[in-house]
Amino acid sequence: MFISFEGGEGCGKSTHARMLKEYLESSGKEVVLTREPGGTQFGSTIRKMLLDNDLSIEMTTEMFLFCADRVEHVEKVIRPALSEGKIVISDRYIDSTIAYQLGGRALPEDLVRYLNWISSKGLVPDLTFLLDIPVEEGLKRTAERGKTNRFENEILAFHERVREKYLEIAGNNRQRIKVIDTFKGIEETQKEIRGHLPAGRQV
Ligand SMILES: Nc1ncnc2c1ncn2[C@@H]1O[C@H](COP(=O)(O)OP(=O)(O)OP(=O)(O)O)[C@@H](O)[C@H]1O
Ligand SMILES: [Mg+2]
Repeated sequence: MFISFEGGEGCGKSTHARMLKEYLESSGKEVVLTREPGGTQFGSTIRKMLLDNDLSIEMTTEMFLFCADRVEHVEKVIRPALSEGKIVISDRYIDSTIAYQLGGRALPEDLVRYLNWISSKGLVPDLTFLLDIPVEEGLKRTAERGKTNRFENEILAFHERVREKYLEIAGNNRQRIKVIDTFKGIEETQKEIRGHLPAGRQV
């Protein structure tokens, strides 16, 4: 089973991905927790470039870098783990590309969708949690963590476009994508997430 966590800055992806991993492991499952960008050794070099505030990167270059990261990630981490029967949880995946490069950056739709398809080789998660929170609240949470990255420093309108695109994708993929409101307590949010696991995965 392949699960992804999606959502804007500071919505709680990393927190809930980690909590879900612990929960599934406590019920005896083997879980691989990974992330984009940076799920491989090569990818972590790409991640540093992508998040670096001091680098100026063309939007198309940025798109290629995310896709290069994904090729490595799918081939070296996700597919091998799935073929060993493990549950894979990825902190961001293909929906981030649509939300950020198509929604946020407004790159040409055919280019974004084509590269997304090529880089993932058509591997779509079985289940995706879209963690949703008002933009200002998410950014407040990231600001509280200290130094902000290249994306967190984008203008509000960018983050609003990302959020809007995420909600649009969710509306078009209701079976796969569960929208979770995270403007509430962590435990309550996690409980809601677990409620969406297919029967048999819950304790
Ligand atoms: N309901 C909630 N769910 C998740 N996190 C919450 C919630 N309420 C408050 N928080 C706090 O918000 C922060 C979320 O940070 P986290 O790193 O999980 O977000 P993220 O989506 O991974 O961010 P980024 O996009 O920067 O990677 C944490 O400090 C967490 O304690
Ligand atoms: Mg995170």
